Amino acid sequence: MRVKNIQPVYFSPTHTSAKIVTAIAEGTDIIVNKEIDLTYPCADQKVISTDSLAIIGVPTYAGRVAPTALERLQKIKGDNTPAIIVVLYGNRDYEDALLELRDSVKQLGFVPVAGGAFIGEHSYSTEQFPTAAGRPDVSDIQIASEFGKNIIKLLNQYADIKELPALEVKGNFPYKENKPKTPATPITIDELCTQCQYCIEICPVETIELKEEIVSDPEICIKCCACVKECPNGARVFNTPFSEFLFKNFHERKEPELFYCTR
Ligand SMILES: Cc1cc2nc3c(=O)[nH]c(=O)nc-3n(C[C@H](O)[C@H](O)[C@H](O)COP(=O)(O)O)c2cc1C
Ligand code: SF4
Ligand code: SF4
Repeated sequence: MRVKNIQPVYFSPTHTSAKIVTAIAEGTDIIVNKEIDLTYPCADQKVISTDSLAIIGVPTYAGRVAPTALERLQKIKGDNTPAIIVVLYGNRDYEDALLELRDSVKQLGFVPVAGGAFIGEHSYSTEQFPTAAGRPDVSDIQIASEFGKNIIKLLNQYADIKELPALEVKGNFPYKENKPKTPATPITIDELCTQCQYCIEICPVETIELKEEIVSDPEICIKCCACVKECPNGARVFNTPFSEFLFKNFHERKEPELFYCTR
């Protein structure tokens, strides 16, 4: 099977999914199209053609695909298009996220050919309680790039996508139950905030506003921590007991897990 070009697709508030998708794409050594970035609301429906290879990357939230990512993915359709599926998780566990992503992309018209669970700095990692800080690192990127290269070799062994065996990945169905959302959102330290409004620009669900000060709506916030990690002045803080819990229980380094469709 000849792949003409690579189509990166991701939802990635803190950029770890984007980094891995990009590294896999570069590893293939095939022309890479402009990425479809679902992190921000966009109206366009897109169909990715059969001769492309899509690389679809999303974060794990509570052992499942981040709900906003799943919602926005519905705009992207395949036409029996091969796809590499990727989940990022913060060194705790990805549970059923990769399986859920595999099943979801199939329904959208893609043929999953390989899958990877990679580790990204946890959204709730802090200086005091670091969890997977700095990941993906050089070793993760190297693994991602090799993964891309190997998938192209694998696809070249088949004349037609219909000959490919089904992709099996880790996870259980029914998927882990979604717990009801607990409303919460980062706070702004007014003394540090210059009201530059950058956080307003980058919030994936457009819930940050400048009133007297910078505020966000806990009912809408998805707790992605993009505003916390990207504020140039360290003025956004998300106080959650999870930071300490994760640091204490999930500090042992995990490594990427890769799945190929082979007999
Ligand atoms: C609401 C929420 C839930 C999360 N749940 C998990 C989880 O179940 N397991 C895990 O290891 N990491 C979890 N994470 C961490 C993210 O999966 C991880 O930081 C990922 O790299 C973020 O991807 P991004 O940089 O593309 O946004 C969670 C993060 C958030 C914001
Ligand atoms: S990015 Fe930081 S400094 Fe700028 S408005 Fe937002 S909180 Fe304030
Ligand atoms: S306000 Fe909430 S949803 Fe918006 S960037 Fe911050 S953490 Fe993410």
